[in-house]
Amino acid sequence: ASRLFFTEKLLEWNREANSRNMPWKGEKNPYRIWLSEIILQQTRVEQGWPYYERFIQHYPTVTDLAQAPEEEVFRLWQGLGYYARCKNMLAAAREITDQYQGKFPDQYDQIKALKGIGPYTAAAVASFAFNLPHAVLDGNVYRVLARYFGIDTPIDSTAGKKQFGELAQALLPAAAAAEYNQSIMDFGAVVCKPQQPTCNDCPLNRKCIARQQQLVAVLPVKTKK
Ligand code: ADE
Repeated sequence: ASRLFFTEKLLEWNREANSRNMPWKGEKNPYRIWLSEIILQQTRVEQGWPYYERFIQHYPTVTDLAQAPEEEVFRLWQGLGYYARCKNMLAAAREITDQYQGKFPDQYDQIKALKGIGPYTAAAVASFAFNLPHAVLDGNVYRVLARYFGIDTPIDSTAGKKQFGELAQALLPAAAAAEYNQSIMDFGAVVCKPQQPTCNDCPLNRKCIARQQQLVAVLPVKTKK
């Protein structure tokens, strides 16, 4: 029942109060979603935004990207750093062009097998583009779940990844995967923020364990590295 409350309130917040606006929101084109997620892996939204727009303009399709010279793609990437991301992206674009005739694969396992795509990015593309029932787990999601459910297992431990992964998957409404995944990430960015979360106005505050036990500032827990 608490899971239902969580999911229902979250979707309600998204429909009624979420005013977060980003160019890839609601996007259904898997190539564009993938591009945005690769850029956002180690880059803040505000910084990644213009890069996303430029890449889409230069390379409207995955085949356009696959056919581009590496130096040109690297030049467009300049300023984002972590060039392995860019190199892998180009390799994946070429895989999609060669193995899938330029049609982005629509199965989770095929998506995850592409160069540079891990469980997070595969779940994002599978859910946003194809509404497949795969829960995304990023920093926002870990934080929201750790606080609301009062989980102090370190999020970067093996046990933590398993526990949060199973919980995230159990909470996901299978028929509304895209909407739910976008909602929880936005909620983590806008309401359940790392610093100064807006708990007084939070639609989930009535049942939030971290709030009840004054653990908001200490959750989520990370192992010291
Ligand atoms: N960070 C990475 N991808 C995101 C998305 N689709 N929405 C919000 N934050 C994100």
